[in-house]
Amino acid sequence: IIIRKAEFITSAVSVNGYPEGPEPEIALAGRSNVGKSSLINKFINRKNLARTGNTPGKTQMINFYRINDEWGFVDLPGYGYAKVSKELKANWGKMMEEYFSRRGNLRAVIQVVDIRHIPSLEDEEMHGFLRNRGLPVLVVATKADKISKGQWGKHLSQIAKALNIPDWRMIIPYSAETGLGVPELHQALEEILAM
Ligand code: GTP
Ligand code: MG
Repeated sequence: IIIRKAEFITSAVSVNGYPEGPEPEIALAGRSNVGKSSLINKFINRKNLARTGNTPGKTQMINFYRINDEWGFVDLPGYGYAKVSKELKANWGKMMEEYFSRRGNLRAVIQVVDIRHIPSLEDEEMHGFLRNRGLPVLVVATKADKISKGQWGKHLSQIAKALNIPDWRMIIPYSAETGLGVPELHQALEEILAM
């Protein structure tokens, strides 16, 4: 994929706010602060199109981006952030439920996990939820720059095991710092978007 154009379209909290258009869409799901917004920025090679930050919960709405006027990235608010209220958690659940049930042009989900950690219960639940909906899920293990290359395989196989992924080589190791995994993700999305 050659990125000729990347633009932020809008933020929404419910279906009324979603942008119209039949373009295929790819959503990113993952824990708060795992690096979803950074992954998008590195992928499209723009420093700060998707807002990132050190404070977990930076992305609280559903953010829509359009690439090459052809397809969309959707940055979903992160889960698993302990400090949010019950009310916020319930809102998050409703937002997700609505997005996944109403967005017919959703083609696949990139589930972003931290390569350093065994997936949390919430990661497992999200993975199961997406698979049950019949959505293709691509797992990307980010922050790979934070551990040595020699450890990637071991960590990826632990992640694969926790998520019931048959082969750890199906998981893409990634780094928004070094650009590791960017070509592999381009390739994977190209295949998904061509389907
Ligand atoms: P929410 O919007 O809160 O759900 O977070 P997010 O998943 O969008 O995470 P974000 O991209 O904002 O990144 C969180 C923090 O992790 C930031 O300080 C980033 O600089 C850092 N970060 C993200 N990706 C990487 C990576 O690949 N390597 C390293 N070293 N740091 C990263
Ligand atoms: Mg974010």
